Amino acid sequence: MKVVILVGSRNPEGQTARAADAFKEGVIRKGSQAEAVFLPQMKIERCRQCEENGWGICRTEGRCVIEDDFAMLVEKIRNADAAVFASPVYFHDLSESLRSFLDRLRRICRWHETGKDRIEGKAAIGICVAGGSGNGAPACTVSLEKVLTFCGFQAVDMIPVRRQNLEMKLAILRETGAWLATNA
Ligand SMILES: Cc1cc2nc3c(=O)[nH]c(=O)nc-3n(C[C@H](O)[C@H](O)[C@H](O)COP(=O)(O)O)c2cc1C
Repeated sequence: MKVVILVGSRNPEGQTARAADAFKEGVIRKGSQAEAVFLPQMKIERCRQCEENGWGICRTEGRCVIEDDFAMLVEKIRNADAAVFASPVYFHDLSESLRSFLDRLRRICRWHETGKDRIEGKAAIGICVAGGSGNGAPACTVSLEKVLTFCGFQAVDMIPVRRQNLEMKLAILRETGAWLATNA
């Protein structure tokens, strides 16, 4: 099986990246494949709210009008058996790169059959890493679960991590990766 991990951190060696790596290790241990993509390295514009009423072809055609890396990333999710979303906690919430991506994703796959293709019902896991004070990771997971559910994913687990328990959570993330690889 194939797992795609979208990481909303700009630091490939930071705490969120370590969490994503631990998850990946667990997936690979079970003989499955995992690919991590760092969203700040991608070109992802924010939603343009194309029409006066705020809608756009996202609702009528299940795709986004903006030509950037969004469609390629959506295709990666469609071609994976499960998707993982890992965010550093910013202001007790998601990072901007992940937020911009998910703001657009929910628009294409909420209403239209084409947009829902290979996303509706797909297993998704959220990881939120509070690397500063350590506060706000549970609130961030609530925010992430809400948007993933809106997108149509089956949010099978949400894992809050704080700087103070990172080492312990890395072990849990490895096991969750192994579990996902054998159960999704
Ligand atoms: C704009 C901003 C807001 C942040 N808000 C929080 C927060 O609410 N709680 C927290 O523990 N850390 C907060 N941090 C720290 C990040 O969670 C921490 O830097 C992050 O884990 C490290 O990023 P990395 O995982 O990409 O290395 C914030 C950092 C930034 C840049």
